[in-house]
Amino acid sequence: MEERRKKAVVLASAFLFFLLQSSCALRRDQFPSSFLFGTSTSAYQIEGAYKDANKSLSNWDVFTHSQEAKIKDGSNGDVAADHYHIYMEDVELMHSLGVNSYRFSISWSRVLPRGRYGTINPTGVAFYNNLIDSLLLRGIEPFVTLSHYDIPQELEDRYGGWLSPKIQKDFGYFAEVCFRKFGDRVKYWSTLNEPNFMVINGYGTGDYPPGHRNKQLIAGHNAILSHATAVEIYRKRYQVKQQGKIGIVIFMCWFEPLRNNSLDFLAAKQVMSFHVAWFLDPIIHGDYPPEMQQVLGSKLPTFSIKDRRKLQYKLDFIGINHYTSLYVRDCSVPPCNSSGSIDESPFIYNQRNGIPIGKPTAMPQYYVVPYGIEEVVLYTMRRYNNTPMFITENGYAQHSNSSMTELLNDIDRVDAIRQYLTYLNNAMRKGADVRGYFVWSLIDNFEWLYGYTKRFGLYYVDFNTQKRAPKLSARWYQQFLHGVEVLHEHDEQVDTI
Ligand SMILES: *[C@@H]1O[C@H](CO)[C@@H](O)[C@H](O)[C@H]1NC(C)=O
Ligand SMILES: *[C@@H]1O[C@H](CO)[C@@H](O)[C@H](O)[C@H]1NC(C)=O
Ligand SMILES: *[C@@H]1O[C@H](CO)[C@@H](O)[C@H](O)[C@H]1NC(C)=O
Ligand SMILES: *[C@@H]1O[C@H](CO)[C@@H](O)[C@H](O)[C@H]1NC(C)=O
Repeated sequence: MEERRKKAVVLASAFLFFLLQSSCALRRDQFPSSFLFGTSTSAYQIEGAYKDANKSLSNWDVFTHSQEAKIKDGSNGDVAADHYHIYMEDVELMHSLGVNSYRFSISWSRVLPRGRYGTINPTGVAFYNNLIDSLLLRGIEPFVTLSHYDIPQELEDRYGGWLSPKIQKDFGYFAEVCFRKFGDRVKYWSTLNEPNFMVINGYGTGDYPPGHRNKQLIAGHNAILSHATAVEIYRKRYQVKQQGKIGIVIFMCWFEPLRNNSLDFLAAKQVMSFHVAWFLDPIIHGDYPPEMQQVLGSKLPTFSIKDRRKLQYKLDFIGINHYTSLYVRDCSVPPCNSSGSIDESPFIYNQRNGIPIGKPTAMPQYYVVPYGIEEVVLYTMRRYNNTPMFITENGYAQHSNSSMTELLNDIDRVDAIRQYLTYLNNAMRKGADVRGYFVWSLIDNFEWLYGYTKRFGLYYVDFNTQKRAPKLSARWYQQFLHGVEVLHEHDEQVDTI
């Protein structure tokens, strides 16, 4: 009797689970029709053509050719995915996917080889004009980042790049050239991509160019004020006429308390402040977050009256790049034991009681933790009064050394993206004003310090022939965007090329 009842319960819950699964199948029409669904890339990672047509060297060109660069496979972005020469093909890929937007960045050194110390490069401008026009012709909205890590090397040599307040003037000048040349057609501008991650790596740990250590606060300060400079110019001279929106893109992990106690909750909150509010509080609330002021005191740069006047221009949207969640524990009592922690910080962990926070991916410290996207969106919604948000990056990495069959049949990527979109939808049902989602990335590309050893693309790239081939995820995204319910995508196979 007891046994039969148990069986019945098990059967009933299996049936319920099945019902829930099917009714929860992700559909395009669960998102507003105006929602932007796109793919994301950046100039240095795909364009190649690093010296073509009067482009000057960027900080990344110089860095990847230097001895200091610790690129896993010793590679660089000289050719990358050769997008500069075959961008039309990539636009066609997007057209076939059915995306309504494309996030890309402008190579500063292609448009202004010497910053404000030289002239505008007409061939560089022509390239982006052609790209923008080709996108619009296919109904794809350009979503443009002004600087995605790369700056002309000349600005580094002249005054130390982001370390100097002079970069504010240069960035403002570059932004204005872009608004003037492209702003009649570009309606979404991001000033900077992940300035928080960029300054931690380039000025904190020294792993990215220019390889400084412990100078992230001042570099971050200049990045915040460079954003403000560009927004002021846009608001005063272009926005009314061009009717676009301007924002910034922040790298946003979700930090989960390691243990269920108030100390770890506070610690996790503090780490969010040090990573996210560090940039967004000054831009939106006018000053550094109280959590940072308390800990850093006079080490934190301060905003002058002139700076504060600039900061009042704020932003129109927040771009969120989300890839992973991590645990945080308090280190006051008892002191932290750094074994098991990551990133040189004794309080960030990737596992709890030996169990990883999510499914590992090919990127160390990137785990698939779908609920994390809901958490970062709700955090941003609450802290910034539901400012419009875009998920400007979310994606999944594969090891390049996997077999061709595995690379093309990227079921794990499909699962990750589908689950992340499901949790993003949850956040939206709770009221979060999210207006778009961009998969990182359209095509496999140069993954910074990992070179070509990681693949994030919906399309596989053979870097010898530059041929692109759709992975299963490209087909899944295409079907999803066309409103097809894809419940059995696991049965599909993509032929090996
Ligand atoms: C490069 O610059 C030189 C000097 O301004 C100019 O003559 C030449 O046409 C430019 N080449 C391209 C491809 O833009
Ligand atoms: C966390 O702790 C509180 C009490 O401090 C308890 O009510 C709650 O159930 C705990 N949550 C988990 C997931 O253990
Ligand atoms: C640190 O933790 C590891 C395992 O978690 C343990 O073996 C080691 O003894 C700890 N060290 C200290 C100083 O507590
Ligand atoms: C593939 O490369 C990763 C590191 O990039 C390494 O950990 C792994 O062992 C490699 N696998 C094979 C099959 O060579």
